[in-house]
Amino acid sequence: MINSRSGSSLNSRNMRGDTMETPSRERFSSTTAVFLASLGSALGLGNIWKFPYMTGKFGGGAFLMLYVISVLLVAVPAMVSEFVIGRRARRNAVQSFEVLAPHSCWPCVGILAVAGSCLIMFFYASVAGWVYAYIGKSLIGSFTGVTVEGATQQFNSMVSSPFVPIIWLFVVVFVISVVLIKGVQRGIEKITKTLIPIFFVLILICVARALTLSGAGEGLSFLYKVDFSLITPTVMLSAFGLAFFKMSVGMGTMITYSSYYTGSDRLIPTAIRIAFADILASLLAGMAIFPAVFSFGLEPQGGSGLLFITIPLVFSKIPFGHVLLPVFFVLCAIIATTAMISLVQVPVAWAEERFGLKKWKAVVINTGLIFSVGILSALSATPDGVLSEVKIMGLGFFDLFDFVSSNIALPTCALLTVLFVGWKLSKEIYFSEVTNEGLLHDRIRPMIFLFLIRFVAPVCILLVFLNSLGVI
Ligand code: TRP
Repeated sequence: MINSRSGSSLNSRNMRGDTMETPSRERFSSTTAVFLASLGSALGLGNIWKFPYMTGKFGGGAFLMLYVISVLLVAVPAMVSEFVIGRRARRNAVQSFEVLAPHSCWPCVGILAVAGSCLIMFFYASVAGWVYAYIGKSLIGSFTGVTVEGATQQFNSMVSSPFVPIIWLFVVVFVISVVLIKGVQRGIEKITKTLIPIFFVLILICVARALTLSGAGEGLSFLYKVDFSLITPTVMLSAFGLAFFKMSVGMGTMITYSSYYTGSDRLIPTAIRIAFADILASLLAGMAIFPAVFSFGLEPQGGSGLLFITIPLVFSKIPFGHVLLPVFFVLCAIIATTAMISLVQVPVAWAEERFGLKKWKAVVINTGLIFSVGILSALSATPDGVLSEVKIMGLGFFDLFDFVSSNIALPTCALLTVLFVGWKLSKEIYFSEVTNEGLLHDRIRPMIFLFLIRFVAPVCILLVFLNSLGVI
C-alpha cells in the first residue's frame, strides 16, 4: 500500500488542493473549461455512428436504460479513477503511475495507454479525414439528386483512391498539431470552449428539421420503443463496451486531462455531468438522423454506411437538406477533432515530460508518427483500397488497429486502472482527491464510487474483455 505521505514532496498541497511543486505545469483556467475540454474528449464519432444505431437495433428504450446503467456503474467510476490518478500526480499518463507507485510495474499501464491512444488515432484520423472531405463535397453540391448507387460509388471511389484519403489525413493531423502546439489553455481549452457549444447549436438545428418531416414518428419509434426481448447477454456486453469508448476511458486521456484540472474541480460531479451531456448528444444525434432515414423508407444502418452513404442520400432529398448536409458534417468534424485532440495529447504530454522535449517537437514527432502509420489504414479501409490485400492475423491495417485498440488495449488498460485506484492506491489518497482534501462534505458518493471501482467495474470490464476476445 502506498500511504498518503509517500512521495510527499510531490503531493503536498496548499489549501485549495493545488500541487505546489509543479507551478509551471499548465492548467485549465476554470471549471467550465475543464467540463468542456473533457466533454470534447467524450464526444466523438461514437455519438453519431455507433450509439443511435445500436440503440435502435437493440431494443430502443430498453437498450438506452442498459446503456445508462453501464455508464453510471462502470464507465463513470473508471473515469473517476483516471481523474484521481491524473490530478493527484499531475503528470502524464506514464509518469503519474511512476509518481504514485514508484519502483513498480504499474507505469506499464501508462505505456499501454500511450500506445493505445496512438493505435486508436491510426484509424480514427482516417475516418475524420473522410468527414472533413465530406464537408467540402457537400458544400459544392456533389450529392444533389444523388441515388443510393451514386452515393455508394462516390464514397468508394474517395476511400479507395491512393491520394485523396492521405491528403485529408494530412489536413486532420495538421489541424490537431496546431491546436496542441498552442498548449492547454490557448489550444485545447480555447478550441473546445468555442466548438462544443457550436456543436450543440448545430445539432439542434438538424433535430428541428428532422422532427418536422412527415414520417418522423417512425424514426423516433425505432429509437425509443422499449423492447426488452432484444436484450441478450451479448447486447449487455456491447453496451458496456460502447460506454467505455464513449466516455474515453482506458487510454489515459482522462488521466492526462485531469492532470490539468484545478484543485477545486469536483471529480465525481464532473464525471457524471460529462456522462449525461454525452448521452444527450447521442440522443440528439439519433433524433437528427433516424426520422429522416425513415421518412424515405431507407433501412437504418450504422457505421460508415450511415455516415457517408445514407445521410448524404436522405439530406439530398429533404427541403433545405443541401444547407443542412454541410452543417451536419461540420458538427461531426467538430466532435471528431476534439476527441482526437484528447487522444494525441496523451503521447504528446508523455514525450514532452519524459524526454524534456519542447512542446512543438513532441507534437510534430507524434503527429508525424500518426500520419505515417495512419497512411496504412487510410489505404486499407475498403476492399478496393491499395493496401487492402495486406493482412495481419487475417485483418487489414484499418481493422487491425481498430481491433487491437478497442478490444485489447482499451479493456486491459481500463481494468488495470480501476484495480490500481481500487486496490493499490491508498484510500486516503482516493478520498482526499474526490473530496478535494476534505473541503467537500459529501461522504456517501465517494463511498459508493469506491465500491463500484473496487468490485463492480473490474468484473464488468473483465466480462467485456473476454467477450470481445470470443472467450465467452
Ligand atoms: N470518445 C470518443 C468517441 O466517442 C473517442 C475517444 C476519445 C476515445 N478519447 C478516447 C475512446 C479514449 C477511447 C479512449 O468517439
